[in-house]
Amino acid sequence: MQRRTVVAGLAGSAFAATFAGGIQIAAAQEVVKIGLIATLTGPQAASGRQKVAGARLFMAQHGNKVAGKTIELIVKDDTGVADQTRRIAQELIVNDKVAFLAGFSLTPLALAVAPVITQAKVPAIIMTAGTSVITERSPYFVRVSFTLPQQTVPLAEWAAKNGVKTAVSLVSDYGPGIDTQDAFKQRLEERGGKVVEQIKAPLANPEFAPFLQRAKDLKPDALLLFVPAPTAGSLMRQVVDRDLAGAGIKVIGTGDITDDDQLNSMGDAVIGLITSHFYSAAHDSPLNKKFVAEFKQANPNMRPNFIGVSGYDGMYAMYEALKKTDGKTDGTALVEAMKGMKWESPRGMMSIDPATRDVIQDVYIRKVEKKDGELYNIEFDVVKDVKDPLHK
Ligand code: DHB
Repeated sequence: MQRRTVVAGLAGSAFAATFAGGIQIAAAQEVVKIGLIATLTGPQAASGRQKVAGARLFMAQHGNKVAGKTIELIVKDDTGVADQTRRIAQELIVNDKVAFLAGFSLTPLALAVAPVITQAKVPAIIMTAGTSVITERSPYFVRVSFTLPQQTVPLAEWAAKNGVKTAVSLVSDYGPGIDTQDAFKQRLEERGGKVVEQIKAPLANPEFAPFLQRAKDLKPDALLLFVPAPTAGSLMRQVVDRDLAGAGIKVIGTGDITDDDQLNSMGDAVIGLITSHFYSAAHDSPLNKKFVAEFKQANPNMRPNFIGVSGYDGMYAMYEALKKTDGKTDGTALVEAMKGMKWESPRGMMSIDPATRDVIQDVYIRKVEKKDGELYNIEFDVVKDVKDPLHK
């Protein structure tokens, strides 16, 4: 009797061990899909290239196994058209059953998926779009990029402290541009300065020359610029042509206008330009040096910019969320897991505000300088742990 029980017990535990092993193998083979919606064609294609490169670098460094699951990255091109972003998001959720969506180059593309992700309860990680209000449009948005007011308020502070009494702003006429001009005006005027005119240029096919001439004629101390990063090359060529600095006008802006991917092609005329932003390829940390070196090695002819680093950090947030849920893909649990997450990025320390799901990070004041034959945004001042100032 006793012997039989022992034998049965042994057999039972042997069976249990085999069974558990089987489950482990099954779990490792279970795939968790991430749908990365990037803009890879059209005028904003540089944005998509960066975030895909950043996401792929993270996976190359950290592997594709997380919490016993296999991660599969599905990359889709939305061509920068909001109807496409929404359609692709629906397909990725319904057909591919993705656990996460990520990407979103332009604000209207992010806004287009808000109702879709809310209904499906699928988290969407914003890797570029920077209009403040986006994260309020769905409880499933988590942002790892930035908001424009977060970057602009420290720049307005810098301007006020550095003799800027009058300013003109020139921005792209949509969400992030409006956020930039409004945040700048409010803070500069609180500090005793004056924004004498707010100029808006169309987002699509902008011809900046007449707007820049108007700004020059107004003779402000400073001209504040914002356009989405892929448009910065054409803006800055026209800024240089008009020689605003020669007319005594300080040109300043968010780092979108001197992004690391395009800065070298803008030429030495932009040396000295002051911007505020959360990422510079010249950020002085061991983690960033490794990030830049490995990014360049994997992507010849590219240098990581703030979009590339956001693609990289977005993958980090998704990997860590899956670890916290033990590989479970319930969307609400994944969003909860990301709230309050804090980590070192190549940009510096960053965290996800548990109250707003928006990014909290250091904002640097930088100056374009030449180093080792290349143009860089050299950080010389920092405001620590900046939250978006517009969220309640
Ligand atoms: C947005 C897009 C950009 O490329 C950028 O540099 C800043 C903001 C946007 O559409 O929100």
